[in-house]
Amino acid sequence: MARLKVGVLISGRGSNLQALIDAAADPAYPAEIALVVSNVAGVQGLDRAGRAGIPTAVIGHKGFPDRPSFEAALTTALRSAGVAFVCLAGFMRVLTATFVEAWRDRLINIHPSLLPAFPGLHTHERAIAAGVRFGGCTVHYVRADVDAGPIIVQAAVPIAPNDTAETLAARVLEAEHRAFPLALRLIAEGRARVVGDSVRIAGAVAPAGFALNPPG
Ligand code: GAR
Repeated sequence: MARLKVGVLISGRGSNLQALIDAAADPAYPAEIALVVSNVAGVQGLDRAGRAGIPTAVIGHKGFPDRPSFEAALTTALRSAGVAFVCLAGFMRVLTATFVEAWRDRLINIHPSLLPAFPGLHTHERAIAAGVRFGGCTVHYVRADVDAGPIIVQAAVPIAPNDTAETLAARVLEAEHRAFPLALRLIAEGRARVVGDSVRIAGAVAPAGFALNPPG
């Protein structure tokens, strides 16, 4: 079966990109990465893509007068690479409703908290300050509101009494590296269906530590 052609948007380190690269290295994985786009030049994620032989593009947002023209350049690059689906992997630009709607249900993001708790930045500091006992990560379809949209996969990570934002971030990141390839696989296998504001998953067994919505 043809693999889903994916574009990955990054802004930095690219460890979640690496998790997707590693997953897609298996020919049985149902998605392949056709293009990696960074809005920042010289970042580690671009080296990771280059090492894997994946085409890359740098589209710096600062080179455009406004968000719509920046996003039009993103879409042009993605389309010319034959991309059918987009993953935001540490992409730190807010996208307009126009871009989000153009890629509706073909655009997912990973966020380092159990959404809808702690959208935005500094999630781990805020979780520790709030005294919650679990952090975690969420892979969700992107909607116009920041860090909102139907949830595909979540994993919870316990917060230890002596955790700092750094130690918690490292533990959550391990969960992220499993959650993102899992979510993309479920979608590429046609198992994920958006129903209203939530996602139904058909015929998949949740790996240990992950919870999936029933087909419903
Ligand atoms: C990840 O923790 C990701 O969840 C987060 O940025 C980090 C990127 O790391 N994304 C967001 O905060 C988006 N709101 P990576 O570049 O090593 O994948």
